[in-house]
Amino acid sequence: MIYETHSPEETYELGKRFGQAAKPGDVFALDGDLGAGKTVWSKGFAAGLDITEPVTSPTFTIVQTYETGRLPLNHLDVYRLADPYELDEIGFEDMIGGQEITLVEWASLFPEIMPEETTYIDIQRVSGHEADTRRITVTGKDILA
Ligand SMILES: Nc1ncnc2c1ncn2[C@@H]1O[C@H](COP(=O)(O)OP(=O)(O)OP(=O)(O)O)[C@@H](O)[C@H]1O
Ligand SMILES: [Mg+2]
Repeated sequence: MIYETHSPEETYELGKRFGQAAKPGDVFALDGDLGAGKTVWSKGFAAGLDITEPVTSPTFTIVQTYETGRLPLNHLDVYRLADPYELDEIGFEDMIGGQEITLVEWASLFPEIMPEETTYIDIQRVSGHEADTRRITVTGKDILA
């Protein structure tokens, strides 16, 4: 599925729809260039899970867990990860397969860590379009179906 958004608000709303649709155990991989809109999408996604805490990108902590929503959310940013083994230290395996929702920013850096039933979201600027246009391509597990 391919979506096109024309403002940060639209990307937030799309993220929110996915957060609202997320079911226990769902895993999301979020990719896109620097400044594409991953964090905007993640904030909307968290809002869709009824998370009330402020959501920031866990660039330095690698993982941030939010417990205030209708399901726990593990929000990872693996951009600064040197080696996938570091994920063992933060207990990545235990996050997968249970009730919690897991969202991994920059998952394409470590494609082998993602489970088979992942929903992939790729956010890209579109050359030749206005600066606020984003193409958001969703593949893998279709959670809006
Ligand atoms: N359609 C759009 N969707 C999302 N963000 C947009 C859009 N149009 C413009 N923007 C702007 O692009 C920027 C996206 O920033 P954001 O922090 O979400 O990117 P990011 O992908 O998380 O980047 P990084 O990899 O550096 O963390 C914001 O400044 C936002 O206002
Ligand atoms: Mg970000």
